[in-house]
Amino acid sequence: MFNSLQPLPPDPILGLSAAYRADTNPSKVDLGVGVYKDANGRTPVMRAVKRAEEVLVASQDSKAYVAPTGAAGYNEIVASLLLGNTLKQSLADRRVTVQTPGGCGGLRIAAEFIRQANPDATVWVSDPTWANHIPLLGSAGLQFKQYPYYDYDTHAVKFDEMLECLSKVPKGDLVLLHGCCHNPSGADLTIEQWQAVKEAALAQGFTVFIDLAYQGLGDGLDTDVYGVRLLAESLPELIVVSSCSKNFGLYRERTGALTLICETTEATAAATTLLAAAARANYSMPPDHGAAIVQTIMESPELSSDWDSELREIRDRINSLRALLVARLQIAGVERDFSFIEQEKGMFSFLGVNKDQIQTLIQQYSIYLVGSSRINIASINDDNIDYLVESIKAVL
Ligand code: LMR
Repeated sequence: MFNSLQPLPPDPILGLSAAYRADTNPSKVDLGVGVYKDANGRTPVMRAVKRAEEVLVASQDSKAYVAPTGAAGYNEIVASLLLGNTLKQSLADRRVTVQTPGGCGGLRIAAEFIRQANPDATVWVSDPTWANHIPLLGSAGLQFKQYPYYDYDTHAVKFDEMLECLSKVPKGDLVLLHGCCHNPSGADLTIEQWQAVKEAALAQGFTVFIDLAYQGLGDGLDTDVYGVRLLAESLPELIVVSSCSKNFGLYRERTGALTLICETTEATAAATTLLAAAARANYSMPPDHGAAIVQTIMESPELSSDWDSELREIRDRINSLRALLVARLQIAGVERDFSFIEQEKGMFSFLGVNKDQIQTLIQQYSIYLVGSSRINIASINDDNIDYLVESIKAVL
């Protein structure tokens, strides 16, 4: 039965990590997968996470099952992070949050929920979007269309075209937005643009679906969810999938959540049963450890304040690396204007080089970047910046 199977190509993002690991060039640089790296090129366990783990090891007295919807305490904490306490309270009867195995698990459960709610729904995704959105949501049977998003010439959101497209999306379809730190472009919506999206959603009646994987890595924990909060308080329905991979550095612990806002209390109660059933049918229940860490941190004033400080250090470092890369390219005499990189947010930007230049960077210079020219800014450090800048200059 298995003899006729053909191997699949490597994953466009995770495949780069394997190629990077196998590369023996001592100057190699990994700008591929979106993980934060410190000045020494390491992805550290955050201080508060380490301390929370010590607390958990000392205090946890059972490994009995959790519920398909996860830990209630964690779910409330996630909802507070997303919505803030006031909005969370005002939406109390219309909101449900369920713990999921990472943001990916949340996206998958959201996809199954959407299929149940409207089997004919089309999900409109940004052009471009995260390379795994369509495989992940599509594997649950959803169909897709694209709305214009990133202008590769101006390095900005082509919002007029985006809005024109959204103003034709019908009720029953979903529009998938990146809550902040757009992956792969780093180009985010402005406050005015979020407001215009809200008006379009109200006028058309489509459902907004937000993927929020980078809260706290752009401008700040609250600033980064301006759009989420605006839509949560204004629209009758909303889906938000969030992740603690990046902002708590819990990547491998698979710690995420799906938050739904429904129009009525009755719809919320029904939706909760569907989410629990989808979780049960897929993985029964989410893994506990990452969520228990988040809960332990956020229930301790001391740990949560330390987490907040370290997250700020991470965010500031990424933003300073953006400025550094732009400045160093300019100092090196590269004529092309890369100043857009400094305006963008989160881990990623497009370098804007072509397919041949990407292949040269990978094969000749051992600089690993995604095939769209997406680079992970958080991988730049004092040891690799000279080599990186010289290599980019050479391929240009
Ligand atoms: C990325 O975009 O690099 C991250 O979200 C990691 C992943 O799973 O692709």
